[in-house]
Amino acid sequence: MRNPTTTPPSRSFAAAAAAAVQQLRQPVAPAAATPGTPLSEFGREMLAGLSRRPRSISPKFFYDAAGSQLFDRICELPEYYPTRTELRILAECAAEIAGQVGPAAEIVEFGAGSLTKVRLLLDALEAPKRYLPIDISGEHLEAAAERLRADYPALAVQPIAADYTMPLVLPAPLPGAGKRVGFFPGSTIGNFEPDEALAFLQLAARMLRGGGLLIGVDLVKAPDRLHAAYNDAAGVTAAFNLNLLRRANAELDADFDMDGFAHAAFYNAPKRRIEMHLVSRRAQAVTLNGQRFSFEEGETIHTEYSHKFTVDGLRALAVKAGFRPGAVWVDPEGLFSVHWLQA
Ligand code: AVJ
Repeated sequence: MRNPTTTPPSRSFAAAAAAAVQQLRQPVAPAAATPGTPLSEFGREMLAGLSRRPRSISPKFFYDAAGSQLFDRICELPEYYPTRTELRILAECAAEIAGQVGPAAEIVEFGAGSLTKVRLLLDALEAPKRYLPIDISGEHLEAAAERLRADYPALAVQPIAADYTMPLVLPAPLPGAGKRVGFFPGSTIGNFEPDEALAFLQLAARMLRGGGLLIGVDLVKAPDRLHAAYNDAAGVTAAFNLNLLRRANAELDADFDMDGFAHAAFYNAPKRRIEMHLVSRRAQAVTLNGQRFSFEEGETIHTEYSHKFTVDGLRALAVKAGFRPGAVWVDPEGLFSVHWLQA
């Protein structure tokens, strides 16, 4: 890649953020506590997460409809370089990537398919045979699959509603299919703890045997650059983080005071990760599903890790998981990497 230019923001970020924050401030009618109704997975994990110390909740619960919209806005922020950098790498190195993947490939995407990204890949590949997006959210997936089918009539699009961190049996290859290729963009691997990242890669290596994994990974860089990416001036990342509490108030019988918590994100250099937390601004009590939780001033709920890697570090992890690392594509600034790992 050459000559990186800065994409001008497509809309006013400040206005978008202000609207997002406004939306968060809207009171939501608390869900009626229905005795005997089993709690959702979110409800169960919130209760467990608030009960342990330090308190924590999985970042997978960020992505309800409002959270997904806020994440889309994050991807357009001037400070949030990963999305546009990865897209540029995929676009500019597409021919080389297609060369590694080969013809008639079957693409398995792990996690909510950002359709923009897989489209870049599909457009570059030679006669891709089938696309198998795996995601927990089945409805979302079906709608996205329908749009993709319309644009790629020769491609078999077969969504799989499942948790991709669990072992899963993929359908047998179609007759005449080429390599089975995993696609895991966006540095989502950074959300995992190191042992979980290894476990995921081991699972992927088994599923993709004979083919490979194309994975996008954010790189270690100057802490101020990382800090800015998770503390944007417009406050969209803060709104994204706080949306978890709004979601708990809306879906669970919870009474988080939206003004009682603050977004906090910092780079933990020894651990090479951004940590996001929700910090209690004062001593307060919160009730969730009839259970009372007290917070001291400054007490936090940990909401996300975003691990950063070196190119060599990721390759070493891939070897440990059973891959043979192949080509790596990095932007000229060395911000982000896309790896071809042979399974
Ligand atoms: C989608 C997990 C890669 O860690 O950068 C963005 C999520 N969190 N801003 C990331 C996120 C705050 C993102 N991942």
